[in-house]
Amino acid sequence: GLPDQVTIYEVGPRDGLQNESAIVDLAVKVEFINRLVDAGLTTVETTSFVHPKWVPQLADAAELLATLELPSAVRAPVLVPNERGLDRALEAGVREIAIFASATETFAAKNLNSTLDDQFAMFAPTVERALAAGLTIRGYVSMCYGDPWEGDVPIDQVVKVGARLVDLGCRELSLGDTIGVATPGQVISLIEAFGKAGVGVDKLAVHFHDTYGQALANTLTALREGVTTVDSSAGGLGGCPYAESATGNLATEDLVWQLDGLGIETGVNLEKLVATSVWMADKLGKPSASRVVQALAG
Ligand code: HMG
Ligand code: MG
Repeated sequence: GLPDQVTIYEVGPRDGLQNESAIVDLAVKVEFINRLVDAGLTTVETTSFVHPKWVPQLADAAELLATLELPSAVRAPVLVPNERGLDRALEAGVREIAIFASATETFAAKNLNSTLDDQFAMFAPTVERALAAGLTIRGYVSMCYGDPWEGDVPIDQVVKVGARLVDLGCRELSLGDTIGVATPGQVISLIEAFGKAGVGVDKLAVHFHDTYGQALANTLTALREGVTTVDSSAGGLGGCPYAESATGNLATEDLVWQLDGLGIETGVNLEKLVATSVWMADKLGKPSASRVVQALAG
């Protein structure tokens, strides 16, 4: 069966803008986030408290959060890799964070300057302090279905990384197809493997990049498996600067079109969302990658 309702976890301002070669003005970021909220998105990942030299696109995180005035019902998580990032996030008054782990050795080195094992030494005190401060914590696992340097990733390795994040205290686990190579059979296998390891679908979110055009098929597959939280990015912006061949995320408009058609509630006003992505595409100087944006705005 399919769920009656899906929570869309919007990552455009973070996953989207971290990958733009141009640094977007603070005022544009603020308007982007306000427009996403006005379009009905209730969970918006706004920015990252990573090292500003690693991701200069989001170096204005503190200033952004000081400027934003979001309704209190809106969840506005931010990425935090380590204790230094947590300090900065707490100072900015953040209530919700996401840590991000790698399922592979190579990506742990490239994205976190760490190893598969050592990344947990960075996360453990971060999560412990965040929980003590009353924050809600999501854990991402990247390279769940394939890695550009290592190729296939053993499913046991992915599950081990994810289960460790849950054991640390992550309330939700987002399974990242960082480079967009997954196909639906893999999605079923991974969700089932997590279930066998004691991590049920109620704890899982899915995060697909759309490099090979499989993101919607993979998402529908995950929904049929019982997942009810889906990550997506307005206009299909996104990618990871430290992951070779990563392209944009599943576009939120494409997701909403599918869910609307299935009669699944999202609370999102598609017209307002499309207008937001058209506006953003103009600011970025290139057309949106979303098929639904192209179809409705073309
Ligand atoms: P490092 O260089 O090993 O850091 O980077 P370090 O711990 O050795 O510290 C070096 C210096 O950096 C120190 O300063 C620290 O204070 C400072 P110094 O004492 O030399 O003056 N520092 C910081 N400053 C500000 N904020 C911080 C911070 N941390 C240390 N948070 C580090 C390690 C993890 C920081 C670095 O590798 C990093 O920032 N990586 C982030 C990369 C990133 O953001 N990637 C994109 C997000 S992940 C993604 O997109 C995937 C996802 O979408 C899911 C999917 O698609 O799969 C989530
Ligand atoms: Mg991503």
